[in-house]
Amino acid sequence: MKALVLAGGSGTRLRPITYTSAKQLVPLANKPILFYGLEAIAAAGIREVGLVVGESEPAFRAAVGTGAEFGLEVTYLRQDAPRGLAHGVLIAREFLGDEPFLMYLGDNLVVGGVSDFVEQFEQSSPDALVLLAHVDRPEQFGVAELDAAGRLVSLVEKPKEPKSDLALVGAYLFGPAIHDAVASIEPSGRNELEITDAIQWLVAKGKVVDSQVLERPFIDTGKLQDLLEANTIVLGAIEGRNDGHVDAESELVGEVIIETGARVVCSRILGPAVIGAGAVVERSTVGPAVSVGPGCVVVDATLEHSVLLEGARVEGVSRVVDSLLGRNARVSRSDGPHRLVLSDDSEISLS
Ligand code: TTP
Repeated sequence: MKALVLAGGSGTRLRPITYTSAKQLVPLANKPILFYGLEAIAAAGIREVGLVVGESEPAFRAAVGTGAEFGLEVTYLRQDAPRGLAHGVLIAREFLGDEPFLMYLGDNLVVGGVSDFVEQFEQSSPDALVLLAHVDRPEQFGVAELDAAGRLVSLVEKPKEPKSDLALVGAYLFGPAIHDAVASIEPSGRNELEITDAIQWLVAKGKVVDSQVLERPFIDTGKLQDLLEANTIVLGAIEGRNDGHVDAESELVGEVIIETGARVVCSRILGPAVIGAGAVVERSTVGPAVSVGPGCVVVDATLEHSVLLEGARVEGVSRVVDSLLGRNARVSRSDGPHRLVLSDDSEISLS
């Protein structure tokens, strides 16, 4: 069994962050989203990983390297443009050979890993095994109709009248028949080769497509609110430790990680929260559900349910909530007019 991890794409829904970095490398609890997926793949006993990347390839090479740190062997597969998930399978044809493989979306987070999913596939070796989750608004997803044995009968993208509330989530297991499928389908209305069309092709050809319904969170972090939710879930599992300096005037409440060289002065940190290496927090309240990246500075501020990337600064601003600050972004208070330097597609709301 190999794995194919998709980490290309355009990331339009997470602009402007995705102008300068790949969304799969945005950190949750100060660790890139992609690393959680790679760890889950290694834990499922898979060694060989094909990583589909776009123009951010150098950043992935710098972050993931050979994959040895994860116990993996990573082969980089360059996709010339985001031509769809099924196109990722098409360009990986040589790497995958005729082995079965786990296809995993690199911006997704599955709590509890994928080992049970891989085991189910290995027991029955269907042509495909899809992972499904109950969702509130099935009309916004790829929706599955199952027979009594849990086998896929149809898959419809964003149906007006959904036949179930079961939506396809970002991990799939395939046998070699998928290669015929991705070579046979045509690009969709949005000019992408859709993996749902490839799976529907398998169903139409009478291939066996099994399903597993997931009862634990599987989050697509492609949008800001979902990314913050994934950060909250990951932080919810941390165990507190203090490798930095917390002065006597400060208080840590609940599970809080203070990384090496971080300084907390006259502040309250409400867990779950992580304060990155070398960061400074002074006269502030941080948390719950906050990740402060390495080298950040937070002074006279309150932060909640937010992610700060490396080197971001927040000074003199209270009630920063539901926010994502890019590397070296600065937010500060002024008593005069607002002076803003915002990149294309930035969002800011002032009171
Ligand atoms: P999506 O989030 O569906 O697509 P996207 O990254 O283009 O995002 P947006 O809709 O905001 O513009 O992609 C799911 C995962 O698959 C993500 O990790 C990116 C990756 N991907 C590829 O590797 N190649 C592709 O051609 C596409 C469309 C996505």
